Amino acid sequence: MRFLVLGQGGREHALIRALKFSPSVSEVHACPGSDGISQEAICHKVDLSDAKAVEVFVKKYQFDCVVVGPETYLVAGIADHLRELGVEVVGPSQIAAQLEGSKIFSKEFMVRAGVPTAAFEIVDNVADTLRAAQKFTPPYVLKADGLAAGKGVFICASLPELKTAAEALFEQKILGVAGHRALLEQHQDGYEISYLVLTNGTDFEALPLAQDHKRLGEGDAGPNTGGMGVVGPMIVDAELREQIDALIVRPSVRNLSGSGLLYRGVLYIGVMVTPKGPTVLEYNVRFGDPEAQVIMPLLDGDWGYVFSRLAHGEMSPMKWKNLQMACIVLAAQGYPDDPVKGAPIEGDLGYEGASSYFLHAGTAKVDGHWVTSGGRVLNAIGMGSSRAEALREAYAQAKHATWRGIQMRKDIGAK
Ligand code: GLY
Repeated sequence: MRFLVLGQGGREHALIRALKFSPSVSEVHACPGSDGISQEAICHKVDLSDAKAVEVFVKKYQFDCVVVGPETYLVAGIADHLRELGVEVVGPSQIAAQLEGSKIFSKEFMVRAGVPTAAFEIVDNVADTLRAAQKFTPPYVLKADGLAAGKGVFICASLPELKTAAEALFEQKILGVAGHRALLEQHQDGYEISYLVLTNGTDFEALPLAQDHKRLGEGDAGPNTGGMGVVGPMIVDAELREQIDALIVRPSVRNLSGSGLLYRGVLYIGVMVTPKGPTVLEYNVRFGDPEAQVIMPLLDGDWGYVFSRLAHGEMSPMKWKNLQMACIVLAAQGYPDDPVKGAPIEGDLGYEGASSYFLHAGTAKVDGHWVTSGGRVLNAIGMGSSRAEALREAYAQAKHATWRGIQMRKDIGAK
């Protein structure tokens, strides 16, 4: 089969690598891909917002299946457009992608599904935000409704901080239309689990659980990022797992068809395990990044086959390897606010240990030399029979590349 993966980061590189190892897959293409990805897939620069260009492209290459990486494409409706052109797609419809594209849509879905989630109010101005805050205890969580590239969540220790955040959203409009409305939520203490399922909107197959590390600094200090490292499979006790399945996963999937949403793809449920039990923090409509980097290699099977069936609305039983995986994110100086691009990368990006390798997340080749070109630059991947071994492999791999101001957490998987 001929596959096309949309996107250009570490997640997409992980998807492409998994497809390359799939016996059913003969060719892997990427759009736009990257210089790093072009070592493993045929990359195409097609403007995905240009409907005619997309039509010409997919008709020329006759892809058997397209896997969509980033949420932005899904929220823009790429899956519907491809389906109208007769192309099979792993990715939900534009309306279903609102589960990630609109925090308010998503919260209303959670309420209909009857899943546990933090108490909330919908707000669209400063005065109402401060009035609504009387119902909650600090810290206050204000979430912009729309996609904001990780910059839409404000955790405010006090009312004055909340006022500043609300003014930034509603009056200075720092996020534009994405911040015209927002959710004010009760903050929840606990720990997070990335629980991803493949679903056709009726049935689901759970993927191995993963633990992301979203904060930039060790000990979970500093600003939120897209993820600085991840380990998996995360083992949780059977009782908690059953609680999550019964209270959250099954009702969420049931409500996809109940709400009439066309869904053939990944549903990523951000689960917060609180002292009072598990709750839903958020839904994402795609693979996590860097979660995919540790989940994809765990399948004991053929991802091409699984994806192609899913794109047709059919689920496949999945078997998992008895392995532990770790992914350490190597980030650019200035990430997440203002990552330095163009910094020369030293080392051997092609290095692969027996149980370790790099994935390209934000690199580019300029005049034959690798440079940084994004916030998260490389992913050092390690695997082993234990968590400790996987981490040892990943950290040893990480030593094979560096650049000025490189940022890397040393405590991934230590919790
Ligand atoms: N790692 C978090 C995310 O993909 O949203």
